[in-house]
Amino acid sequence: MELTVVWYLRMSLIYFVAGTIIGFGMLLWPSESGYFIPLHVHLNLLGFMSMMIYGVGYHILPKFSGTVMYSPLMMKIQFWVANAGMIGMVLSWPFAMGAEASLSNAVLMISALLSVIAVILFAINMLKTLKPV
Ligand code: HEM
Ligand code: HEM
Repeated sequence: MELTVVWYLRMSLIYFVAGTIIGFGMLLWPSESGYFIPLHVHLNLLGFMSMMIYGVGYHILPKFSGTVMYSPLMMKIQFWVANAGMIGMVLSWPFAMGAEASLSNAVLMISALLSVIAVILFAINMLKTLKPV
């Protein structure tokens, strides 16, 4: 398995552990949980599930298509973009809820944009890869 793919899977599992620990923390401190719901949701769904799908997808979908990946370089760039976006969203989201939180809001917007770019890079790479056998 290629190193970048391994790192997609490793990061996915790290986000899974973080997401579920935060979920448990939300049960322990329900009065604070409102700040952490978006964090919990996106660590689990964008961090764990999407990152797992990126890794497994890059590894297996070209094989299913009987071809090679359109752009391994794009996969490597997407790894950094997706993780910068995810980590930025995690660090800024709990602080970006108040109207005065302008720096956190700016970080959140940039990180969210990086996450969207990562999704688009994955989609382009896979759309260019997938072909009927
Ligand atoms: C140890 C595991 C987990 C615990 C203890 C946990 C706990 C929680 C808690 C306390 C809430 C807030 C509920 C509320 O007050 O409205 C929540 C919401 C949520 N969790 Fe988890 N969670 C866990 C795992 C997961 C996983 C694995 C996923 C997704 C793959 C997930 C997805 C969600 C979503 C989407 C919401 C938001 C639901 C809504 O829109 O209200 N959770 N979770
Ligand atoms: C590009 C990445 C993404 C961005 C920028 C984004 C942004 C947002 C925002 C702004 C909200 C509203 C949060 C609030 O209540 O204040 C939200 C909610 C939500 N998102 Fe995302 N999202 C992204 C990706 C995803 C993905 C990939 C999934 C699922 C696979 C997802 C599932 C959800 C769910 C379930 C909620 C409702 C959570 C709740 O109950 O509060 N998001 N998202």
